[in-house]
Amino acid sequence: MTPQLKIGIAGLGMVGTPLKRYFEEIKEYRRGENLFLFDIDKKKGYSDDINRADAVFLCVPTPMTAGGHADIGAVELALKMLNGEKIVIVKSTVPPGTTEDLQTRFPQHKILFNPEFLTESRAWEDMINPDRQVVGYAAHSKSYASVILNLLPMAYFSSPGALGTYEFLRLNSTEAELGKYAGNLFGALKVTFGNVIKDFCDAISVASGRASAGADYENVRVMLSHDRRIGASWLDAGYHNYRGYGGYCFPKDTSALIARGEEFLKKIPSDSPEYMRLAAGLNFLKSMREYNRTLLKTQGLTEEDVSVHDKEWIQKKMNKEV
Ligand SMILES: NC(=O)c1ccc[n+]([C@@H]2O[C@H](COP(=O)([O-])OP(=O)(O)OC[C@H]3O[C@@H](n4cnc5c(N)ncnc54)[C@H](O)[C@@H]3O)[C@@H](O)[C@H]2O)c1
Repeated sequence: MTPQLKIGIAGLGMVGTPLKRYFEEIKEYRRGENLFLFDIDKKKGYSDDINRADAVFLCVPTPMTAGGHADIGAVELALKMLNGEKIVIVKSTVPPGTTEDLQTRFPQHKILFNPEFLTESRAWEDMINPDRQVVGYAAHSKSYASVILNLLPMAYFSSPGALGTYEFLRLNSTEAELGKYAGNLFGALKVTFGNVIKDFCDAISVASGRASAGADYENVRVMLSHDRRIGASWLDAGYHNYRGYGGYCFPKDTSALIARGEEFLKKIPSDSPEYMRLAAGLNFLKSMREYNRTLLKTQGLTEEDVSVHDKEWIQKKMNKEV
């Protein structure tokens, strides 16, 4: 029997807290014995010696810089705290290619990327019952991916595949990183699309001058939602009392992927088809972001106002800050 890995969690926020609960309640780990918790915010009361762990999950923030990039400073800081050779599992959302870069810079560790797909409203339920469980590997950490996958809640789809999983694929960390962004950008795109259709509804009423000739977006939305290929999620034009996409992840992840794309453009010959297509794709994503910013502006809001955790938004509303 392989000895049980001691687990560390760095960053006990929206993602780290349910992960802690999973290890304590479902896996029966005990803090100080085989579970070590560390958060830079001393008020949270997690200051265990994370270096006693064999495998450390990084659940630290990756906020947006002024230039729109993902700031991976907290991930780097957490990695620098680790001594010896550890298995490091990045759960923070990081741009495609980051885990491979980190693996090159911190060769003593085995670094993996395990995207978290939880929603804030159902964080615990989503954590223990995910639809996907992906542990993407860097070239140097490949053999550790299944060890970590076997520790985590099982899902219908997994990478690199475990006993009892129905569908599996072997994803490297870059694919897993891009897949995580793709999900969030698809959400942003769907919210945007629904709002553009709502704009049509509103414009029809104004343009025709007759309320009876107008269209109610709610009715259009319900009709659209019943197309099984489309579904109901992300089509609300007014979730959280404002129109447009917001929340802790969609705005920052949209900007981070655009910024990463622009970095790739600099490395590709400008007369290549890859360059032309990526440049056009980035313009498409930028106009989506610009539409969302305009939509927020028409409601007296900025992207910054809405780029907060759900509970912070509710608090802001209660304090009448927005
Ligand atoms: N919130 C979500 O729904 C969600 C879902 C999936 C993925 N993610 C991603 O997961 C990451 C974490 O998000 P979150 O919502 O849990 O953030 P959060 O702000 O709720 O929590 C992050 C925690 O990390 C701590 N921290 C910061 N720097 C640290 C360091 N160097 N060492 C130890 N602790 C540190 C903070 O004090 C905080 O408690 C982000 O990259 C985010 O994009 C978030």
